[in-house]
Amino acid sequence: MKILIVGAAGDVGQTIVTELSGRHKIITAGRNGGDVRVDISDRASIDAMYQAIGQVDAVVSATGSVHFAPLAEFTEAQFMLGLGHKVMGQINLVLAGMAHVSDGGSFTLTSGVLDRDPIRMGAGAATANAALGGFVTGAAIEMPRGQRLNVVSPGLLEASQQRYGAWFPGHMPVSSKRVGLAYAKSVEGALTGKVIIVE
Ligand SMILES: NC(=O)c1ccc[n+]([C@@H]2O[C@H](COP(=O)([O-])OP(=O)(O)OC[C@H]3O[C@@H](n4cnc5c(N)ncnc54)[C@H](OP(=O)(O)O)[C@@H]3O)[C@@H](O)[C@H]2O)c1
Repeated sequence: MKILIVGAAGDVGQTIVTELSGRHKIITAGRNGGDVRVDISDRASIDAMYQAIGQVDAVVSATGSVHFAPLAEFTEAQFMLGLGHKVMGQINLVLAGMAHVSDGGSFTLTSGVLDRDPIRMGAGAATANAALGGFVTGAAIEMPRGQRLNVVSPGLLEASQQRYGAWFPGHMPVSSKRVGLAYAKSVEGALTGKVIIVE
C-alpha cells in the first residue's frame, strides 16, 4: 500500500512509521519536515498536499494540538484551539482526502486517553478526543467506495513519558510496539467506525 502519515516525525507518528514502513510505501508529512509539508489547520494547505502526492491507499493522522489549563482558567479560545486544530484539522484530512484515497482505502485518526481517564488540566483534550470518536462513528457509515475510517486512542506513550509523565499520575505508559500495532490494525485490517483503544 501507499500510505500517507501526517505527523510522522512526532512520538506517535514514529511508532506508525516503524510498524508500517517494512511492508508499505510511506509518504511522511509534517508542518516543518517530511516528504511533503502541510498545516492541518489550513484547508488550502491540506488540498495542496493531496494534489502534490496523488492517490494513496491509506491516510494516517498522528497530529493535533490542544490547550492544557486548569478548568477555571480555560477560555473559549483555548477550547477552540483543540476543536479547530485537533478535531477539525483531522476531519478536514478526511473531507479533503476522500477523492484521493483508493477504493477500499482507509483513514486513521488519533485521539487519546483523556476522554475516558481524565487528568487535571485535560478538559480541552478530553473534549477534542470525544468529538473525534463521534465523528468516526457518524461518518464511517457514509464513506464512499468502501473506504474505512477509524480513530486510534492511545494512552500515554512510553516514548512521551519524559515529556508528559508528571501530568499523568498513575497512568501505565503504553509501548511503541502496541501503539504501532493499533494503527496497523486500522490500516491493514477490516475495522471501520471504531475507536481503537491502546492502554
Ligand atoms: N504522545 C502521547 O503519549 C500521546 C498519547 C495519546 C494521544 N496523543 C495524541 O497524538 C497526537 C500526536 O502526539 P505526539 O505526542 O506524537 O505529538 P508530537 O511529538 O508533538 O508530534 C506532532 C507531529 O505533528 C506535526 N504537526 C504539528 N502541528 C501540525 C500542523 N498544524 N499540521 C501538520 N502537522 C503538524 C508535527 O510536525 P513538525 O514536527 O514538523 O512540526 C509532528 O510531526 C496528538 O493529537 C496527541 O494528543 C499523544
